[in-house]
Amino acid sequence: MPGLENQRDYWDTVGATKTFTHPVEAGWLRGLNATARLVDYGCGYGRVTGIAEQLGFTNVEGVDTSPNLIARARRNHPRLTFRVLTDPPSLPYPDDGVDAVLLMAVLTCIPTDDGQRTLMTELARVLRPGGLLYVSDLLLQNDGRSLTRYRANVDRYGHYGVFETADGAVCRHHSVEWLLGLLRDRFTVNVTRQLDVETMNSNSARAMQILAARS
Ligand SMILES: C[S@@+](CC[C@H](N)C(=O)[O-])C[C@H]1O[C@@H](n2cnc3c(N)ncnc32)[C@H](O)[C@@H]1O
Repeated sequence: MPGLENQRDYWDTVGATKTFTHPVEAGWLRGLNATARLVDYGCGYGRVTGIAEQLGFTNVEGVDTSPNLIARARRNHPRLTFRVLTDPPSLPYPDDGVDAVLLMAVLTCIPTDDGQRTLMTELARVLRPGGLLYVSDLLLQNDGRSLTRYRANVDRYGHYGVFETADGAVCRHHSVEWLLGLLRDRFTVNVTRQLDVETMNSNSARAMQILAARS
């Protein structure tokens, strides 16, 4: 039975109609060969998978827990490979078998510490040493609406930054320290940047992107 770390019922219904927007800094992927094996984890409707293809990568695959989003991805990008993950975060790849993982706006959907740490362990397993992990995710916001909902949910979820959206998802916003700490044991951070993005519910939000290499 999926818990908070796998809110498939939300992502396969309401979530499957949303628009996602986190941008990709193409220069961060420049060190990879065109034939490098890239995995877009939590690919949604294949937006970032398609960007990677447009950048010239020929071995790109998207994985997601939502069958409806994967169906949408296949319609959008019939030539690309997409898989439904039935037992997340388990991936069907051997140890050290992947050159890069794209993780765009996925941690926000996995609000538990354990869920995020388990995902990092699995991504480190499939990435080869030196392989790249590109993380993009939402930071803690400072506006009154965000502060109110963080405070309102801290007892229920045990974390400042976790909140419920009006349409039924439980999401998490992160401190910079938490995002970097998730990577500390198994990755070396190459570069970071902060930027404003539009959320799936059309709000502006501060986000952070991290490019890290598997140690
Ligand atoms: C905000 S969307 C971002 C989609 C895509 N990465 C993009 O930026 O266009 C988050 C995606 O993560 C997926 N997701 C949520 N929890 C997941 C989990 N535990 N494992 C894999 N994918 C998950 C959702 O189904 C959804 O497609």
